[in-house]
Amino acid sequence: MTTAPPADRTTTVAARATELSKIYGQGETQVVALDRVSVAFRQAEFTAIMGPSGSGKSTLMHCVAGLDTFSSGSVRIGETELGSLKDKQLTRLRRDKIGFIFQAFNLLPTLSALENITLPMDIAGRKPDKEWLDSVIRMVGLADRLSHRPSQLSGGQQQRVAVARALASRPEIIFGDEPTGNLDSRSGAEVLGFLRNSVRELGQTVVMVTHDPVAAAYADRVVFLADGRIVDEVYGPTADSVLDRMKRFDARGRTS
Ligand SMILES: Nc1ncnc2c1ncn2[C@@H]1O[C@H](COP(=O)(O)OP(=O)(O)OP(=O)(O)O)[C@@H](O)[C@H]1O
Ligand SMILES: [Mg+2]
Repeated sequence: MTTAPPADRTTTVAARATELSKIYGQGETQVVALDRVSVAFRQAEFTAIMGPSGSGKSTLMHCVAGLDTFSSGSVRIGETELGSLKDKQLTRLRRDKIGFIFQAFNLLPTLSALENITLPMDIAGRKPDKEWLDSVIRMVGLADRLSHRPSQLSGGQQQRVAVARALASRPEIIFGDEPTGNLDSRSGAEVLGFLRNSVRELGQTVVMVTHDPVAAAYADRVVFLADGRIVDEVYGPTADSVLDRMKRFDARGRTS
């Protein structure tokens, strides 16, 4: 484990937040959810975001993914500044450049696995790249389950459908908010393995919020948030090293 990125890492940035702040409410009820956060997510890198409940993890992800507005600072996806976009343009950017995986799989119950996977592209009126779609389906091991409805799939398989759906349009970046939060450890490990493979083999960029040091160890890098700020960052995490950092933050929190 180190605190510096490996020298051979690509420097192309898939998404970047600069001095990003998000303030909820006013006066006495004001909550500073993000406090001038600057962070870059490099292409083909798997980043985990960790930190105590309420530290701003989901807020950061939602703001960078264009799902939520921010109070000040800036966000870029690739070369595009989110603040400069009109609503329609933002919707299109989210649809074309960003994939999402949520804790609740958010699959449509009446559609088959395959229909769920291609739904966002069907809505956008785009034809999936057949070769790419096949490789994604093969990677998540769903080739023999494509005609099943979500209710006929296990939780882990359902989340694999959600992973394939996020990958299908070949987005610039995939965001997951605790994507393995509802899975048992074996299914969780499978989904994390697929996310990691999509980074290694397909050059995908992934940003994932998690509470689980074991899940974070699948990432190339862990960014730690506390009270709306980035307080630490590690490359090449292991479950032990992540746990160790988390304990130190807890101790600091209690003594201050
Ligand atoms: N709509 C809202 N209105 C007011 N405050 C909010 C709102 N959404 C979030 N917050 C506050 O912003 C802070 C950051 O919330 P956020 O959901 O980003 O935390 P988190 O790190 O994702 O926590 P968890 O691990 O529990 O999911 C919290 O203090 C929360 O109470
Ligand atoms: Mg959250």
